[in-house]
Amino acid sequence: MMAQVNPIHRSFELAAERCEDLTPLVYQRLFREHPETMSMFRTDGSELVKGSMLALSIEAILDFAGGRSGHFRMIECEVSSHDAYGTPRELFAAFFGVIAATLRELLDADWSPEIDGAWRKLLDEIGGVVARSQT
Ligand code: HEM
Repeated sequence: MMAQVNPIHRSFELAAERCEDLTPLVYQRLFREHPETMSMFRTDGSELVKGSMLALSIEAILDFAGGRSGHFRMIECEVSSHDAYGTPRELFAAFFGVIAATLRELLDADWSPEIDGAWRKLLDEIGGVVARSQT
């Protein structure tokens, strides 16, 4: 029997088969759905920040959905540094939803009810972590 693959991890694997780099897709969607975020990033040198912000968010998601070895704690730390950047908490939490929607569009028919359910639960839990974080 095949080992059970975590549906969140599976969704990233399927996306990776279709798209080499999620960064442009995620930020296009972020700027479309939350245009106020465009001016939050500096004009010079923000490509690196955007790429690493996404990479670290994905690491935190995979850890949150899987072993919880500790990377997911980064979410709480980043809530405080983003309070300092002036990123409202709702928006901070919304970034995870933007990642989910990007995967959903890429996966299309392969976005299964199982993957959908796992993502809903995860977004809900992350929303709770963000809301409860201390500054
Ligand atoms: C829409 C939501 C978000 C916005 C608008 C936002 C915006 C920003 C901005 C303006 C910076 C500073 C860039 C600079 O130094 O010029 C930054 C850095 C960073 N962001 Fe975000 N961010 C968001 C969500 C997130 C999330 C969900 C995570 C991960 C959990 C994250 C992780 C980071 C990291 C690791 C950095 C690098 C420096 C640091 O430790 O603060 N961001 N972000």
